[in-house]
Amino acid sequence: MTKELSSVPWWKKGVIYQIYPRSFMDSNNDGIGDIKGIISKLDYLNDGTPNSLGVDAIWISPIYKSPMKDFGYDISDYQDIDNIFGNIDDFKLLLQEAHKRNIKVIMDLVINHTSDEHPWFIEARKSKNNPKRDWYIWHDNKGKRPSNWVASFEMKNAWWLDEKTNQYYLGTFTRHQPELNWRNPELKEAVYDMIRHWLDMGVDGFRMDVVNWYIKDDQYRNNPWKLSFNPIDVQRHIYDRNRPETHDICKEIRAITDKYADRMLVGEIYANDAREAVSYHGVENDELHMAFNFSFLFQRWSASGFYNNIMEYYNLLPEDAWPNFTLSNHDQPRHYSRYREGEYTDAKAKVAAAMLLTLKGTPFIYYGEEIGMASEKIAKKDIQDPLGKKGWPIIKGRDDARTPMQWDGSEHAGFSDHLPWLRVNSDYKHKNVSVQSKEEYSLLNFYKKLIWLRKVSNALSAGDIEFLIKEPDNVLVYKRTFSNEEVIVVLNFTRSKQTVNLDKEGKVLLGTHRYDGERVSLNKWKIYPLEVLILKKISSV
Ligand code: NOJ
Repeated sequence: MTKELSSVPWWKKGVIYQIYPRSFMDSNNDGIGDIKGIISKLDYLNDGTPNSLGVDAIWISPIYKSPMKDFGYDISDYQDIDNIFGNIDDFKLLLQEAHKRNIKVIMDLVINHTSDEHPWFIEARKSKNNPKRDWYIWHDNKGKRPSNWVASFEMKNAWWLDEKTNQYYLGTFTRHQPELNWRNPELKEAVYDMIRHWLDMGVDGFRMDVVNWYIKDDQYRNNPWKLSFNPIDVQRHIYDRNRPETHDICKEIRAITDKYADRMLVGEIYANDAREAVSYHGVENDELHMAFNFSFLFQRWSASGFYNNIMEYYNLLPEDAWPNFTLSNHDQPRHYSRYREGEYTDAKAKVAAAMLLTLKGTPFIYYGEEIGMASEKIAKKDIQDPLGKKGWPIIKGRDDARTPMQWDGSEHAGFSDHLPWLRVNSDYKHKNVSVQSKEEYSLLNFYKKLIWLRKVSNALSAGDIEFLIKEPDNVLVYKRTFSNEEVIVVLNFTRSKQTVNLDKEGKVLLGTHRYDGERVSLNKWKIYPLEVLILKKISSV
């Protein structure tokens, strides 16, 4: 492996922070977050000192012009910013201000579908022979729907009848998100031009939405049904997703991106089989720089569970691929709540944070996780998410993971002076950035310390990894190495004391129960319940 840190690209070493823009910071007090709000918080994210979080990049969920039927994941103009969030000048200012602070900016790239209000679709639906007709996926109405594919957010068949032309178009999220036809060369060129437009402007890369949806079976064959307790997982997606031709598109987008220096593509490949996701790294790392690893989103709390999860993932990755980890995002309940266990919850959140930020792989932080934001149930009448509104009644949607950022204890948590688009969590008065900045041992300060420690440790940001306890029951212990630097991470996942017996010594770099600089020998070493201990090997101290 490379021993020169300078040759390791930023997206391998760095920490990426996801912003859900509606909920991050509202600058114009309309109750919805915006670009100027993000700019006002850039110093919080990284002001160049350990007083700030220290993240290296932000990924902003979609801010393009949109009717907001899926809160921006339904785009009606790929080259404009929705006026809810600001305008193109605000965005250019954001780029400038972020870059000034060494923060990269990653845009969301939603190119499986557009909004039904996108001018391309408005044109396409005018007539069967409209030049843009073939930019979308159509099928004659022969009395029954062309296939059994399901629109995930409506729990209905995904073929929607266009009465004027008596043909069905495909929309596998909502009816308002018609799917683009990636077999049409003109459509591809139009999208590629749009990609170049943002790269030319200076964006540092893209988070690519539902990559494995791009291409559908050209014969529209039915998916087999499957038994599942999760109503949005009732089919085996053999024909509407995961088609091999999708890899060609990823190669083309990678080739475009590679014409620019230092850019990065990370793809959302939501599939039951983890092999599907890792295949998007490409055989010769010629597709996406990374495919999201979502396995932690569904991992129960246990050292052995995490160990198996991590090892399985590392073993699946192609040789030259770089790993990544995510504990929370805008589509799933927050991990603070998933791992909630009364008075132990904060300690568990620290163990989880230490794991995320010290494993080999790029960490993705979801806004608010650094203060332990929870997923609190949203009352049925307040649900905003189309998945919660339109889907089956037992599906409550994703709003609980999208509530406004808790900045301080003032009304609306300092997010806005206006009633926010989604109510703030009930705990905001004591759980917020302002309170936690002042508490030395808060979760927020722990995230800051971990992130700044990564920056001064080549082993933690870019090193190799080796687990020192194989098949662990209670405690994860792993070693990160880079050249002659060695860091050892010890994480107790249990609520009881555990003994670690390893022939290793080190000085504490960071921990939850020990002083920095304290000397520790892991020979019959007792580790406290839910303790985090990060050591630097003595010889290299
Ligand atoms: C995946 C995104 O993460 C989700 O939020 C969105 O609703 C769908 N793709 C549709 O674009």
